[in-house]
Amino acid sequence: MLVYGKIKLVQEKISSLEKETSIGFVPTMGALHEGHLSLINRAKKENDFVVVSIFVNPTQFDNKDDLNNYPSTLEADLSLLKSAPCDLVFTPSISEIYQNNVERVLFDFDGLDYQMEGKFRSGHFQGVGTVVRHLFEIIKPNKAYFGEKDFQQLQIIKNLVKKNKIPVQIVACEIFRERDGLAMSSRNMRLTEAQRKAAPMIHKILEEVKSKFHEESILNISNWVENEFQKLPLLDLEYFEIANDETLESAKKKNPNEKYRAFIAVYAGEVRLIDNISI
Ligand code: PAJ
Repeated sequence: MLVYGKIKLVQEKISSLEKETSIGFVPTMGALHEGHLSLINRAKKENDFVVVSIFVNPTQFDNKDDLNNYPSTLEADLSLLKSAPCDLVFTPSISEIYQNNVERVLFDFDGLDYQMEGKFRSGHFQGVGTVVRHLFEIIKPNKAYFGEKDFQQLQIIKNLVKKNKIPVQIVACEIFRERDGLAMSSRNMRLTEAQRKAAPMIHKILEEVKSKFHEESILNISNWVENEFQKLPLLDLEYFEIANDETLESAKKKNPNEKYRAFIAVYAGEVRLIDNISI
């Protein structure tokens, strides 16, 4: 497994590969867990050469504390990747990616970024788009793998690729969960024991939403969710929304021709957790 921090070395390696070598790319911010590994395994099944990037991207954090508290576990990440089907790890510094200009590019995502996470994390998706587009330019993958855990991010990346005519196929990967249903996340390691015990309720409530969706109105379901969180003192609901699967626009009424997903963001103390489910 190659580990490179410099763009030049990555590009030299990639251009030395035989022309027909297919490249699968998994961008990450490190603090790797089985959710990330599920993307890497899938990438190797579908490609000859797998590149994983580890880069905590400053422009996607709207909150300095969140950036400073983001776990950094490079040694553990590299040893995990050694036993995964990863061929090259790209670990750039901030200056390697941004030179002296740590700024967001302002993309037009057709309003996808105004919904949910975008309302609560201003500039976040512009920062994600900025770094992902740059990483695509460096690595030029055939396919890139993104988790449905960050479903809004996935839709925004699809929009970015389409509008900018970037020749990469975006592959959506299922949410990988702990046995108790909690969606795996790098943030889970910051939960206290009590918060960790309470956190699987997020998925349980989403499962219940799914089963209620056919009989009950969206308003009733939303009220029910708020009420359930009132009973859980360790979990603070930031938002719950049922939205169109494609446009991510909030749904007020059900239309039989549309596909929907339920989205949720919750604080456990300082730790912000998100999850979603297809309903
Ligand atoms: P990060 O949070 O490290 O996630 C990297 C990729 O792993 C994302 O596509 C995310 O959706 C996926 N992922 C995380 N947890 C998952 C889970 N439990 N199941 C399935 N997939 C999961 O997302 C980012 O980094 C950054 O925004 C990035 C795209 C790298 C740009 O900086």
